[in-house]
Amino acid sequence: MQPLSSTADSTQLGTWEGMPASQQPDWRDHAGYEEACQGLASAPPLVTAAEIRQLRWSLSRLMTTNAHLLQLGDCAESFYECTPRHTSEKLSVIDRLGDRFSELTGQTVVRVGRMGGQFAKPRSQATEGHGTLTIPSFMGHMINSEIATPATRKADPWRMLWAYDASDRVQQVMRKHRQGNGRVPTGEGPWSSHEALVIDYESRLIRRDPDSDDLYLSSTHLPWVGERTRQPAEAHIAMLSSVVNPVGCKIGPTANPDSVLRVCDALDPRREPGRLVLIPRMGRDLIQEALPPIVRRMVNAGHPVVWLSDPMHGNTVKSRAGLKTRYLTDVITEALRFRDILEENRQHASGLHIEVAADDVTECIGGSVRTEDELQRHYTSLCDPRLNVEQATELIEVWAKGTATVRS
Ligand code: PEP
Ligand code: CO
Repeated sequence: MQPLSSTADSTQLGTWEGMPASQQPDWRDHAGYEEACQGLASAPPLVTAAEIRQLRWSLSRLMTTNAHLLQLGDCAESFYECTPRHTSEKLSVIDRLGDRFSELTGQTVVRVGRMGGQFAKPRSQATEGHGTLTIPSFMGHMINSEIATPATRKADPWRMLWAYDASDRVQQVMRKHRQGNGRVPTGEGPWSSHEALVIDYESRLIRRDPDSDDLYLSSTHLPWVGERTRQPAEAHIAMLSSVVNPVGCKIGPTANPDSVLRVCDALDPRREPGRLVLIPRMGRDLIQEALPPIVRRMVNAGHPVVWLSDPMHGNTVKSRAGLKTRYLTDVITEALRFRDILEENRQHASGLHIEVAADDVTECIGGSVRTEDELQRHYTSLCDPRLNVEQATELIEVWAKGTATVRS
């Protein structure tokens, strides 16, 4: 690793501290809060500025060569699945799906895992009922436990240090995989990504690169901001505006062109190719009306965008037994509609952002999971339902086979 200064300068921190931020844990009165924050501020970077530059270069090149991007992994990573064995299994799924995508399109595929830090979840409901009790919802291992008791659901800032250590273990295996396998050029990854949700955690992992003097977020290569936290006047967008990493932004079905333009102007004022990844997640029906005017506005405003479809989060339904699930047919329909809309506007549909498990889960319906009754067989997600590898392969094959390779 290169030598990097361990703390960002405080004038930069002031540009987002004090701003409102949605979806934050309520832990500032916890006895360990200050010490946990100090521990992070003095910790070595998890990823390097050089790696981040390499990914930005790959993304900017992707835009000129019509190569693709594949972002894959768990909805919520588990602290208990950060071992070298679990990490290698996840990387081998990324390899397999990336290779298949590349084989079908004849194009380079940049690979990104939702891993090495995907430990914090925004929630629509802050609390949930258990029998007669109302307890806080699970917010990801960085914040609380999935075990449903009042004590284990209390937000604990020490978990930020646990998250840092778990991420470090995953990042080390990923780094070796990038350098050692020789299968794909290093620029194609696999790189790490997660939703930059917890401001206390992310802001303390901002570092200055002494070579360029730029600030970068050292918790991951490609942070993204979620649908619930992308308000331009709030802390998440301000924080990610201050760093040079490539950044993603989810866009839900209620987004309008003006609000998306404000986000893009904040995150990428200089309109640099490879900086901005927009990730519509609108639902298979709503995407038809909602996405085209947004694409047109970005084109007219001259924003170079890596367009990635998340065909999962707008298609979540509850099974009769009360399990969250998704129908593969809905997921495929949204992904294909996304591609058609981009192509109608002469833009490159860069690829897919999907929740997929490394083991043979039965969380979504499609392929060998034929009915809702089969969901119980192997449903282990900590949060949203993931595709299994067979289902993800079907999605990628259908999507890639219809992808035009020549565009002006
Ligand atoms: C997610 O990617 O798991 C997620 C919560 O996404 P969104 O912000 O799009 O709802
Ligand atoms: Co999810």
